[in-house]
Amino acid sequence: MTIAIGIIGLGTVGSGTVKIIFENQSLIKKRLGCPLLIKKIAVRDPSLPRLVQVPDTLLTTEVESLFRDPEIKIVVELIGGLEPARTFILEAIKAGKHVVTANKAVLAEHGQEIFKAARDAGVDVAFEAAVGGGIPIIKTLKESLAGNRILSLTGIINGTCNYILTRMTEENITFEEALLQAQKEGYAEADPSLDIDGLDAAHKLAILTTLAYGTEVSLNDIYVEGIRDIEPTDIAFAREFGFVTKLLAMCRETETGLEVRVLPTLIPEKHVLASVRMAYNAFYIRGDAVGDVLLYGLGAGQLPTGSAVVSDIIDIARNILTGGSGRVPPLSYQLSNLVRLPIKPME
Ligand code: NDP
Ligand code: HSE
Repeated sequence: MTIAIGIIGLGTVGSGTVKIIFENQSLIKKRLGCPLLIKKIAVRDPSLPRLVQVPDTLLTTEVESLFRDPEIKIVVELIGGLEPARTFILEAIKAGKHVVTANKAVLAEHGQEIFKAARDAGVDVAFEAAVGGGIPIIKTLKESLAGNRILSLTGIINGTCNYILTRMTEENITFEEALLQAQKEGYAEADPSLDIDGLDAAHKLAILTTLAYGTEVSLNDIYVEGIRDIEPTDIAFAREFGFVTKLLAMCRETETGLEVRVLPTLIPEKHVLASVRMAYNAFYIRGDAVGDVLLYGLGAGQLPTGSAVVSDIIDIARNILTGGSGRVPPLSYQLSNLVRLPIKPME
């Protein structure tokens, strides 16, 4: 017995995912009771050099062949962007495949359509890697803190921006130089303006707010400011007064509605989030029962993000193997029927 998967995309995250499955196969087999079999990997151009060595026979340009293959139970979407990612995810669901994705943009924009389709088809859509790279923030909100009313969530949730701000602060290098390095490290989106204009953080915050408050959040509801206009002198000036510049994302319940914001913020040097450097992310969650919880780790990059993807694959594989017994109800059931809470406009 094996669980066969098909992967779409073999870039930064796809390579990390494949590396982990290849290198930790015996461990995964022990934990799961059977191995994971990578049956096919769809890419645009099979002749390109890859960050991981895979047999040529695994590569295909025919994405649809993954959906037609009856052996493949889980399709892993790792191409990013809205289209054709949305169509591929919906086609996979229609073909009865479970889906794992790291694509926060498609979930923030088309999540309701995707989760409804998954509920109707009786399959799961898992997306731990979409927020916080390797940090288990999705599982924390949906499982560990499920008994809490979430009072607030504040986080550094874009690795590229945090990397740029850290290097500008500590090494005095230019914005452009720091961005180039972030791209070389594989942290940035294919279109890096999504990172630096705060939109990637907004996509992630929309997902987190939906999970924390069970509400539909459109991107228009979120006040968004990026870091494009921050000058080295702004950073230096803030430092003189004992503040560190960070791009913060925040959602909070207030008496007049939810506050949902992404914006550059000056935080005191001694605040716990001030020490989050480079591509690290952190989530500071306040629950009514648990109190304060802090999650910290690498929020981007090949292996940390691959780690989250593989954990979702294993979760779903476990559910397939147990026939659903003892399973956490698919998130698509909770997320396909949202009510809309009032959102407080930015003052
Ligand atoms: P990359 O640009 O590195 O890789 C994208 C891959 O998708 C490439 O292998 C490309 O093929 C393939 N691809 C693109 N379009 C198609 C298509 N139409 N058909 C088949 N294959 C296609 O992206 P990342 O790995 O960085 O990101 C993937 C996803 O993960 C995105 O949603 C991103 O937001 C998310 N993510 C990224 C993180 C990171 O640190 N990079 C962290 C967390 C999430 P080819 O190589 O042949 O061009
Ligand atoms: N571009 C994203 C970031 C990747 O820099 O945080 C991780 O989601």
